Order: sequence, then C-alpha cells, then structure tokens
Amino acid sequence: MAGDKTTAAPDGVAQETDEMLAAFQARIDADERIEPDEWMPAQYRKTLIRQISQHAHSEIVGMLPEGNWVTRAPTLQAKAILLAKIQDEGGHGLYLYAAAETLGISRAEMIDQLLSGAAKYSTIFNYPTLNWADIGAIGWLVDGAAIMNQVPLCRCSYGPYARAMIRICKEESFHQRQGYEIMVKMAQGTPEQKRMAQDALNRFWWPALMMFGPSDKDSKHSAQSMKWGIKRVSNDELRQKFIDVTVPQAEYLGLSIPDDQLEWDEESGHYRHGPIDWDEFRRVVSGDGICNRERMEARRNAHENGAWVREAALAYAEKRRQRAAQAAE
Ligand code: 3HC
Repeated sequence: MAGDKTTAAPDGVAQETDEMLAAFQARIDADERIEPDEWMPAQYRKTLIRQISQHAHSEIVGMLPEGNWVTRAPTLQAKAILLAKIQDEGGHGLYLYAAAETLGISRAEMIDQLLSGAAKYSTIFNYPTLNWADIGAIGWLVDGAAIMNQVPLCRCSYGPYARAMIRICKEESFHQRQGYEIMVKMAQGTPEQKRMAQDALNRFWWPALMMFGPSDKDSKHSAQSMKWGIKRVSNDELRQKFIDVTVPQAEYLGLSIPDDQLEWDEESGHYRHGPIDWDEFRRVVSGDGICNRERMEARRNAHENGAWVREAALAYAEKRRQRAAQAAE
C-alpha cells in the first residue's frame, strides 16, 4: 500500500513498531484525517471494515421492512415519499460499501459475510412492520436514532467514511421528518389511528434504543474506537441524547413512551429510563429475532436472482476492456 511504512520481519509479516503506532496515534490526536493510501495499524483497518460493512448491510437490509408497505401506502404521495426514502437507503448502502472497499475488502467478500451470517446488521430491522403507523415510527425513531449516531461519524478519523456520512446524514433528516409527519397525522387522526400510532411507539421504542449498541461498560469496541477517533461519542451518551430529544416529541403527539420508569431528572438535565432488555438484544443479534430468518432469506433470494445482472455487467466490462486493449495495440 503506498505510504505503507510497515517493516517486514524475516517471516515477511509486516511489523507494527511502537514508533509507528505512536506516530499514528499522534495524527489521530491532532484530528488529522486518515486516507486510504496512508499507513494505518492493521487493527484500525480491521475495525473500520467491520463497522462500515455492517453499517452498509444495515442500510440494505433496512430497505426490506419499509419495502413491505410501498404497494400499501395510503396515498400516491405517501407512496412516492416512501419510495424516495427506500431508494436513499439503497444509495447509503452502496456509498458505505464503496467506503469499505477503500480499506481493501471486496464487495463480494462483504456480501458473502452478510449472507453467510458472519457479519451483522442492525437488530432494529428484525422487527416486523405491521401497519402504516410502523412506517411513521421507523422514520421518526429509527432514522432519528440513526441521525443521532451518524452525525458524530461525519467527524470520524477515516476520511472516506466521514465524507460518506455527510451526504447520508442530510438524507436521514428527510427520512426522520417524513416519519414524524406520518405520526403527527395519525396521532391527530381518528381514535383508531392514534391507537395504531401508540402501538407502533410501544413496539419500536426499546428496539430503537438498542440501535446505539450495548451499554458502555459492555461495549467491546468503544474504548479503542474512541481512542482512534472512529467513535466520537459513547453508546450511552448518544442513547441518552436520543431519549432527551424524542420524549418531548412523543408528548407533542400525545403519545406515551412505553417505560413506566421514565422521568425527568432536573439535577442531571436528562430523562432517567428503565432497564433495556439486553437478553432480547443478544437474542436478536444472534439471529433469533422475529424477522431474522425472513430478512436473510429475502437477501439471499435477491442475491441469487440478481446473479445474471452481475454476470452481464462483468461480461460487458470485460468486453470493453478487451476492445480498449485491442485499440491500444
Ligand atoms: N445490532 C446489531 N449488532 C450490534 C448492535 C445492533 N443494534 N449494536 C452493537 N452491535 C454489535 C457490534 O457490531 C459489535 O459486534 P461485532 O464485533 O461483531 O461487530 C458488538 O455488538 C459490540 O458492540 P460495540 O458497541 O462494542 O460495537 P461498536 O463500537 O461497533 O458500536 C455501533 C456499535 C454503535 C452500532 C457502531 O458500530 C456504529 O456506530 N456503527 C455505524 C452506524 C450503524 O451501523 N448503524 C446501524 C443502523 S443503520 C441505519 O439505521 C440506517 C438508517 O437509514 C435507518
């Protein structure tokens, strides 16, 4: 890799000397951006590939629960907005796969990791969308949580990831607003619509809090990711910020947060909340959520059914390469 200052040991394995690691950390501490062609510790590269590829998987799998409602949107305008949002999510996934590829992993390898179950995607997408209010709750809560988690990533130390996040965050804001608008319409609609909005909040509130990851004391990556400027704010801090912003929005809707221990703490200036069910989190992460199997089957089918498109595109690219090579002779 250009600029790669690793020293090759007798067995040919690149060594990372203490001086190199210290120089790298000094760059991070000086808030420099690390670019693809610059030296980086193998573990820095590895954890970025892990996080960015799983972020991309989440965007792509996240299209499924909402896609379920395109043909059942209540109006043509609602359908157009939902279609635009879903297309955005697909674009976010491609953006993030491209950012991960700059670290040396291929698209095919990342897709294999997802389809084999070796890679994760966000647990939130393993919950079903039962009615139109769920589409509102996803935009309001899931995209709202995504914005909270992704804005700090615009300052990530790895250049391509930080730059990808700037455009993604702008589009997430539209996603959150359209979701909240659906919730406003339903909460101010008929009693049955308000009941549906409350039911959607009841079902998506706790899974949305799990999007921020395990508590800081249980997070295995946070300490190193924060040292390397990948994670700028801790899981618990972002979760708390999301709760503090979202509770007043629920109050405006006239809906209640499904947490009987939620209460405003004047002294800290934050809402105190009840315990998160980490057993449920671990169950869903390990593949035993309501929709895990359905989501993975849909992704595997899409990949298999799309094989001919990939083959045609690759054959066309090879033909063009051959023609260019002949023309150059
Ligand atoms: N679902 C699935 N896995 C999760 C998770 C969740 N909600 N939260 C954490 N995990 C996993 C981590 O990936 C890690 O497992 P791994 O080692 O196999 O990758 C493990 O739990 C420990 O968690 P850590 O907090 O130690 O891991 P991280 O430091 O990576 O923090 C994170 C987790 C906050 C999700 C971080 O990876 C991150 O910020 N990722 C980028 C944002 C992202 O992926 N968001 C997911 C939703 S995307 C989305 O919402 C799209 C929007 O358009 C709707």
